[in-house]
Amino acid sequence: MKDVNFDAQTVRVALHILAVCVWVGGQIVVGAIVPALKRANPDAVRHVTRAFGRIGWPFFGLAIFTGIWNMLSLPGTSASWNALLGIKMLLVAISGAGAWLHQSTTRVSVRGASAGVALLTSLAALAIGVMLSG
Ligand code: HEM
Repeated sequence: MKDVNFDAQTVRVALHILAVCVWVGGQIVVGAIVPALKRANPDAVRHVTRAFGRIGWPFFGLAIFTGIWNMLSLPGTSASWNALLGIKMLLVAISGAGAWLHQSTTRVSVRGASAGVALLTSLAALAIGVMLSG
């Protein structure tokens, strides 16, 4: 039967989900705002994306920290669960690398492609996270 309680697991999972909301949700919101902002006030784009970087990266770090905390807190896991976690960690690493490339490159085509890679891999990591939590 389902029940309610508040313990360390509540804090751990809530922080993991908060971090994921900012990292994944932020990419979606900023991605949606930037084209409109480019038309209305091109100079503001740089300020908005930098502001997202200032908040997005610490929350990406929080996702990794709480993800490791998740791993250390769980009881025994199956071989397929561990394999899925490995795939998820790879996707998270690609997402971080994609976001870093996106903010560092000056080539417009690379900037667009890397943003797409960062978003798609973090969405896949999110779906796998739900599978891992069972
Ligand atoms: C982009 C980064 C990440 C995203 C989008 C993400 C997404 C998620 C989501 C949505 C959940 C389900 C939470 C729930 O409802 O219980 C979850 C759980 C989990 N995540 Fe992540 N995560 C990320 C990073 C990481 C990292 C870096 C690790 C490992 C180092 C990790 C390990 C785990 C584990 C072990 C669970 C299962 C927790 C449990 O069953 O209590 N995550 N993740």
